[in-house]
Amino acid sequence: MKVSKMPGFGSFGAIVEDFEWDQPEAYDELRELSIKQLVVSIKGDGTDNFDLLAKNDKKLVTRQPSKIMLRYGRKTHEELRELMSPEEFEFYDANRRLYIGQQYPVWHRVTGKLSEDKKAMGIFGDTELLWHSNNFLSYDWSPLVMLYGKQGMVGSSTSFLQTVDWYEKQTESFKSELNELVSICDFNRFNMIVPNARDVDMTILRTTNNAALENFRKPLVIDSVAGYRGINFSYLIKGFEGMSQVDSDKIINKIKTELLDSPEYQYDSWWSNDTGDLLMFDNIVCLHMRKTSTDNLDEIRPFLQNRVGHRISGEYPGHEDWNGFILPEFREHRQKHVEIVQNHLAQLDKPQ
Ligand SMILES: [Fe+2]
Repeated sequence: MKVSKMPGFGSFGAIVEDFEWDQPEAYDELRELSIKQLVVSIKGDGTDNFDLLAKNDKKLVTRQPSKIMLRYGRKTHEELRELMSPEEFEFYDANRRLYIGQQYPVWHRVTGKLSEDKKAMGIFGDTELLWHSNNFLSYDWSPLVMLYGKQGMVGSSTSFLQTVDWYEKQTESFKSELNELVSICDFNRFNMIVPNARDVDMTILRTTNNAALENFRKPLVIDSVAGYRGINFSYLIKGFEGMSQVDSDKIINKIKTELLDSPEYQYDSWWSNDTGDLLMFDNIVCLHMRKTSTDNLDEIRPFLQNRVGHRISGEYPGHEDWNGFILPEFREHRQKHVEIVQNHLAQLDKPQ
């Protein structure tokens, strides 16, 4: 494979061409590149290699067990209907429609397409989608996200923002101050990320983000899987623990101005082909968003209703014990999740 530097993305980012989708060793190389570079854009040649990717995806991502599987074990749809509360079943039912098929476990759609019975087949299909990281309101969120372009991708960009170079530039005293900050986050601010979210998007977001927690607490500073220190920022942060609103707003506004509103640490990855390109991206010290040729949602809705991405997220294989928190209290939260995933993986490895 041919690797080149992602232009304008500071110390990080790689573009890969001539990737050999049928060579298992190529996926090992890609995984290591992705850990090191935070964002990797793999440019295909317009042919659909999704089956080869799915066949080799274990080399790139360790899938997290679903919360439903952990709680109920392997059950049928009807058994789950009996076992679950109506609210939980509603989430499960909306969520299962996003999945691509049993032969592609955990892979799901990002699309505005509807099924024949007019139900959403994907998340964030025809909405605006501004700067965010996935499942931000949880300690068990995934370090890695992959997005494969399946259909109608040309005309859109998945854009990235890395926070590592910005953090590195700060003074030592400001870094020490940032290292101690615990963000107070609010699910109700989600309209700042998905201003036109549909009910189905909100149903899925509520559950995947632990949204039952009213004032979710999460440290601002964090280390990536490769150990790059940056910030885990979100529009959902409304202030910092033990800090006045005025002082919190000063820091939040500084980050927004210098990072979110500045092109210095950003890269727009415009999809080159309607099908066959792949993005692998860090979900810890990077944020991502969708851009299209116009911001007018009414104009782009038909486009988004035809565009289909295939998404999967999880841990980097060999790094399932990643724990990027600095503050001990949060290291413990994450450690609990690490143990759950490792126990689950050990069960899967046992002969049936
Ligand atoms: Fe996302």
